[in-house]
Amino acid sequence: MITDRRNYDAEMDDLELNPRILAACKKVNFASFSTILSLSSADLGRRTKLPANDVRTLLHTVSEKVYTNPSATALELYHGTCHQSLRVSCLRTGCEVLDGFLRGGILTPGITEIAGESAAGKTQLCMQLCLSVQRSTENGGLAGGAVYICTEDVFPSKRLHQLIQNFQKKLDATECRQLKLGDNIFIEHLSEIDQLVHCIQYRIPLLLKQSQVKLIVVDSVAALFRCEFSPGEAAKRAKRLQSLGAQLHRLSRLHHVPVICVNQVTANMSSGSLNPNQRQLIPALGLAWSNLIQTRLMLGRTAYKLSSGDAVCPPRPEDATQTQAGTDEVPVRSMEVVFAPHLPNDTCYFVVEAAGVRGLR
Ligand SMILES: Nc1ncnc2c1ncn2[C@@H]1O[C@H](COP(=O)(O)OP(=O)(O)O)[C@@H](O)[C@H]1O
Ligand SMILES: [Mg+2]
Repeated sequence: MITDRRNYDAEMDDLELNPRILAACKKVNFASFSTILSLSSADLGRRTKLPANDVRTLLHTVSEKVYTNPSATALELYHGTCHQSLRVSCLRTGCEVLDGFLRGGILTPGITEIAGESAAGKTQLCMQLCLSVQRSTENGGLAGGAVYICTEDVFPSKRLHQLIQNFQKKLDATECRQLKLGDNIFIEHLSEIDQLVHCIQYRIPLLLKQSQVKLIVVDSVAALFRCEFSPGEAAKRAKRLQSLGAQLHRLSRLHHVPVICVNQVTANMSSGSLNPNQRQLIPALGLAWSNLIQTRLMLGRTAYKLSSGDAVCPPRPEDATQTQAGTDEVPVRSMEVVFAPHLPNDTCYFVVEAAGVRGLR
């Protein structure tokens, strides 16, 4: 506290302010810059007895001193000439069709939610992202490992091993030798919100600081929040969600890494839910969580099957008839962009195969 006070006094002296304004501030003996900024111009005028013009200058100078985050114009963002922390890039999914659909992949930085019913392919897609993030930036990755936080099931290590073997086939010999795919995925099993918060606050930042990690996956947020709070504790739950979301955003922005949060679905109980055009399943955790995420992708299972190896889009649901499952047929799944700052609302289809998630043209 004493150090803070000394810092404040020293920084106050450094401000390029008229000595008259400085003297008035010192006379009032403000505790910190935040005390000055939290007062209205009128209050500040009354306490310092400075005229309105001087108060305006004081507020402007202190604000400039406090706000050090880089900013950029829309043109600088567009040309990519802004500060590195403001630049936007994409993490490729490892499938050209899905990358095309997502206009490059998963937006970085920011929180992308992958919601969907059970067995929709959420975990498969996340695991594939954990592999593609390790590739160099020229190859669509972010040249780093991933943290995978499991809150639902045990991490499917066997399946990851199978994905790694197939993923390596796509790489050239040098890249294949350089990438230690299995060694760069840090897996954590958590069952309580407090453990998750501790992990995000203390353990992940350590890995991020060493640049070992370039992707954070929480599979899933819903599992923890749905069981720890009863329906009557919505406000309490919203508050915890908000603080979790803010921490994830901070890490994402500070270290320029994408954060993927898996979410479950819940039945749509709104007044229009009987309307067949309305969504029957909606992502869980309500509006409080929806407001914290940047992109929402919804995965689902369709009633259609595809012969293994086919690369065509299934017929539109309203035109198609359901096919019977054959031995070499794989279920077709859908990926819908519910909202995203850079994508229109659209749906594409994909299948999950031994080699991973593959989009259909
Ligand atoms: N080795 C595999 N080969 C083909 N399909 C697989 C394989 N492993 C999992 N799948 C498919 O992925 C589905 C599970 O997807 P998953 O991502 O775990 O679901 P969730 O959305 O619940 O996380 C399974 O139902 C299966 O169809
Ligand atoms: Mg899963």
